[in-house]
Amino acid sequence: MKDEITIKGLAHMDTAHDSAIKHVTGRAEYTDDLSEPFGLIHAYLGLSKCAHGRIVAMDLDAVRAAPGVIDVLTAADLPGVNDVSPAGHHDDPILADAEVKFWGQPIFAVVAETRDQARRAAALAKITYDALPHALDPMAAKLADMGYVTDPLTLRRGDADRGMANAPHRIKGRMGIGGQDHFYLEGQIAMAVPGEDEDVIINVSTQHPSEVQHMVAHVLGVPSHSVVVNVRRMGGGFGGKETQMNLFACIAAVAAKKWHRAVKIRPDRDDDMSATGKRHDFVVDYEVGFDDEGRILAVQGDWYARCGFSADLSGPVTDRALFHADNAYYYPDVRVSSHPMRTNTVSNTAFRGFGGPQGVIVAERIIEEIAYALGRDPLEIRQLNLYQNGQLTPYHQEVTDQILPRIFEDLTASSDYAARRQAVLDWNAKGGTIRKGIALTPVKFGISFTATWYNQAGALIHIYSDGSIALNHGGTEMGQGLNTKVAQVVAEAFQCDLSRIKITKTTTEKVPNTSATAASSGTDLNGMAALNAADQIKDRLIDFVAERWQAPRDRVRFVPGHIMAGDTAIPFDEVIKAAYMARIHLSAAGFYKTPEIHWDRATGRGRPFYYFAYGAAVAEVSVDTLTGEYVIDRADVLHDVGRSLNPIIDKGQVEGAFVQGTGWLTCEELWWNEKGELKTHAPSTYKIPLASDRPRIFNVNLADWSENAERSIKRSKAVGEPPFMLGICVFEAINMAVASMNDYREPARLDAPATPERVLMAVERLRG
Ligand code: MTE
Ligand code: HPA
Repeated sequence: MKDEITIKGLAHMDTAHDSAIKHVTGRAEYTDDLSEPFGLIHAYLGLSKCAHGRIVAMDLDAVRAAPGVIDVLTAADLPGVNDVSPAGHHDDPILADAEVKFWGQPIFAVVAETRDQARRAAALAKITYDALPHALDPMAAKLADMGYVTDPLTLRRGDADRGMANAPHRIKGRMGIGGQDHFYLEGQIAMAVPGEDEDVIINVSTQHPSEVQHMVAHVLGVPSHSVVVNVRRMGGGFGGKETQMNLFACIAAVAAKKWHRAVKIRPDRDDDMSATGKRHDFVVDYEVGFDDEGRILAVQGDWYARCGFSADLSGPVTDRALFHADNAYYYPDVRVSSHPMRTNTVSNTAFRGFGGPQGVIVAERIIEEIAYALGRDPLEIRQLNLYQNGQLTPYHQEVTDQILPRIFEDLTASSDYAARRQAVLDWNAKGGTIRKGIALTPVKFGISFTATWYNQAGALIHIYSDGSIALNHGGTEMGQGLNTKVAQVVAEAFQCDLSRIKITKTTTEKVPNTSATAASSGTDLNGMAALNAADQIKDRLIDFVAERWQAPRDRVRFVPGHIMAGDTAIPFDEVIKAAYMARIHLSAAGFYKTPEIHWDRATGRGRPFYYFAYGAAVAEVSVDTLTGEYVIDRADVLHDVGRSLNPIIDKGQVEGAFVQGTGWLTCEELWWNEKGELKTHAPSTYKIPLASDRPRIFNVNLADWSENAERSIKRSKAVGEPPFMLGICVFEAINMAVASMNDYREPARLDAPATPERVLMAVERLRG
């Protein structure tokens, strides 16, 4: 059914998400809503119940004998390569063979007539393990000498040792930073439909169709051209479907080819949370040297990450933690190192910010350390240390687009920061049970994949002879509004109604070799590729119109609904019909690659990012010092999206990211027992923020005066990830409220997440 949202007039900036009505009426089709092919059967995974051990016996008789069961697949049944490692480490088996390396690792798959039968049968397996020693967290892994899952990185500029030795003040600390489950509302799911010969079609909830295609081809032992991957939309991905769905797609594909029946696989929430990777938690040792004014002179730090049993994306994630270890501040002498620790837990993966938040929050902790040591407002220390244009980051990229001073100025004024901070200090001075805190924190986020080759995209545009336009690009829609923005770009290029343009599913058949929709780059890359395709067709149409309507080429212009040939306006439909009759090619494949970026990991130097996106937020909180509970009384956000392509969608992204960021730092806590079993694997034990947890007053604004200094799509800036880190102001405000217990003589030094339990313990510690 067609969307009811028909935009009258031109690609309107404040256009709603193209599926908004379908989302809220339940008519948007997700993978599980697709009509099921006749004879569809279901697969379900059997998971390990041991954190590390050799499989000594696997008794699957009861599984095979269970009602409706057709087959049980183990590692030995995979025809091709048993590996879904995205980074070529070959350390990510689809089904564990001989040894399990985390509790929850898939060992076998049951195939049955119904999902319920497959799920019940999977529980009947009797697997005996010979337990081996396990290490669950990064520090235990360090003690046990578990080694790294991938190469560590050090970024250095200047001489951190010398800078530290010469600094008038030095502070050292350690910070624990929790992980986070993606909690996408639509869980992992894949449906494979077998075709003739080696062919298979996979419908799957993925951010990375091309990678699914390659992984399925490998496990089947067939060329990639035999595998088609389709994604209409996801019910959220947040990074959790960048690599993690490969496993499900592979199982569905293997079973579909073996039984020549369509196969669907959909784990329930508990298994999804146990078997798929999450945001990396870190332990960070930091040291800062500074002068009497609070100016940072030197920083060194070690970021220890819980990577899990395999590399997955831990290399680029831990690299990005270092790329953001400075957040928005200039470190004259700096050395920061990553330690991607191997642990016997699920392999951690991409999550909005991709390690960046775990870098940024340490920079903010460092600022707090300095401010409390000198008895100053942390905001002054932030302002003092902001990058100035021309200064170099720890990876030797020059900062040239700094706009934070203006953002600080606007935001402190609009949020009335100074008066409210004084009011908070006055309130706390009365010494009551409820303590308040206020904090303003910035973000500077580098835009581009640090894997430079990922910064490319393709698009395909067809104009049909009736003037309707089909648009495909390599990006995937996960609720972020990518399809709407890319359609707006094309509608503007052709000066036509958005309703004329249809973007349907992303498919590897139409645009090949795509990158993951990740790193916030979906619009930047795919918008440019679509514009390139539109420009090619426009070029041909301009030639055609100039000749047919006898006008100089430079007087042919696209205007709303028409093409002008000199002073004659010809309706778009009429031009298209005539062009078709004249055998003009009305289809084009577009391409884009981000210019100017380069990164040499071996030397730790380059320009990995095309530009930076900036923002800042102020939060005020109230903390109950008898229970550790808190509320966010007010949050004010000012965020930079350059020249927004769609302010409503961008604002939605900023709001969602802010709330998800506060969830990471407040209520979302992952907890494993000593056996290595994740005990927080459902909404009953894992708490994401509710509507009632949002700030009581929530003012979100875009810096509408900003435009991208680089030639990005329409001078806009990426928005998906950067505002996630603005949630840090809530964490810092809670820290201030707690620090008031001790008259701000030292920072509260809370580990994240600042759950009420942790807050209460910190209150007790400082009260003492
Ligand atoms: N917004 C919604 N509604 N759902 C999502 O899954 N993912 C985020 C962000 N916003 C996400 C979202 C993440 S992790 C990224 S990287 C970007 O969207 C990806 O899309 P973009 O590059 O088109 O911004
Ligand atoms: N975010 C940032 N950088 C990345 C990502 C991501 O999701 N994936 C690969 N590089």
